[in-house]
Amino acid sequence: MKNLKYMTGFNNEHETEALENALPKGQFSPQKVNYKLYAEQFSSTAFTAPRHANRRTWTYRIRPSIAMGDFAPYAHALIKTAPDSDIPCPPNVLRWNPIPLPEKSTDFVDGLVTIGTNGDAKTQIGMGIHCYAANASMGNKVFYSSDGEMLFVPQEGKLNVKTEFGLLSVVPGEIMVIPRGVRFSVDVSKDEPIRGYICENYGHPFVLPERGPVGANGYSNQRDFLYPVAWFEDNDMAHTVINKFCGNLYAAEMDHSPFDVVAWVGNSAPYKYDLANFNVMNTVSFDHPDPSIFTVLTSPSELDGTANVDFVIFPPRWMVAENTFRPPYYHRNVMSEFMGLIEGTYDAKEHGFVPGGMSLHNCMTPHGPEAEVFEKASNADLAPQQYKDTLAFMFESRYAIAPTAYAMQSPQRQKDYINCWSGLKKYFDGNL
Ligand SMILES: [Fe+2]
Repeated sequence: MKNLKYMTGFNNEHETEALENALPKGQFSPQKVNYKLYAEQFSSTAFTAPRHANRRTWTYRIRPSIAMGDFAPYAHALIKTAPDSDIPCPPNVLRWNPIPLPEKSTDFVDGLVTIGTNGDAKTQIGMGIHCYAANASMGNKVFYSSDGEMLFVPQEGKLNVKTEFGLLSVVPGEIMVIPRGVRFSVDVSKDEPIRGYICENYGHPFVLPERGPVGANGYSNQRDFLYPVAWFEDNDMAHTVINKFCGNLYAAEMDHSPFDVVAWVGNSAPYKYDLANFNVMNTVSFDHPDPSIFTVLTSPSELDGTANVDFVIFPPRWMVAENTFRPPYYHRNVMSEFMGLIEGTYDAKEHGFVPGGMSLHNCMTPHGPEAEVFEKASNADLAPQQYKDTLAFMFESRYAIAPTAYAMQSPQRQKDYINCWSGLKKYFDGNL
């Protein structure tokens, strides 16, 4: 997968063909498509979704997707889906060390484990939060989720991804979004394990947040979102397609490769984005703005300004605020906050929150800087300061996030997490 080509522009109607003139001109479903291909529409929104929100792609492929065997249940103990009520949803602050890299041969699907869920996948509300850790390629195994689009946040290792819409290569520091229903497989590079986080967004597909008075530029810019060009294989080898549907996995056999789309035109397709391209906004006077200024992508809910899930990052940046406590403030939030760390150190938690680790602060559960950070930041010299070695992220949702039984019982869970605040002292002096 060297020198992959990409097309730029978030949600643009992209056109791409792997063979010259494979794309029909003037109409989407002519009686006969060039190269004797089949035309198949892929709809990510209802036909009648408003034009600005409508997402669909016409694919021109060697066989239609239904040229496959029937589904049969496929066992997987650790992938969960909302509503997941194996255990009560606790209000406790929660934090985990990274899930371990596998010792025996494990591919992406077998290395998936769910950390938490919210909403209800069947009604297309909420999300699942998964981690993956793998060291083997999927080969002729193919995966897709009918329950949601999948936002990948790699933390270790390069993903070599085949999709029906083309090839993508994704490394830590980049993210990838695979729309609901798109078939894909993940290969690892030789001897290089992969690990990362996934938001399986059951709700409205991710869009770019509005910019408001910031204007026409900044935050995540449309041109930095990269879409693969058409790529196909005419391959009559057996493949197994694994579908996540209403919380269960099913497998079906195919006698050919599903990656047989020779050309496509439309605006629903996998894409990737380099988080280094995020144009950070922050204060140049005083006060600590809310973390919503770092929103890369948002999945809106029907309640205005209240996301089904926001994908927010805490990237390298300058801090220049005057007379202001600079780390994230102490907080209780109606929204629920799941965080992960891609690399470096997060400014509110200098110990215990390590790359690959994660934390969960649920609806109205108090959280904020650990005691030591408070002490240090309250007495820091407020000269301009560059945060360099850091890249954290958050999945923030209006729905409480229920950790899975696996997450609660995992040896990676830090049962003493709350103690990082135990040194918070009373400084109050009414005579000052
Ligand atoms: Fe918060």
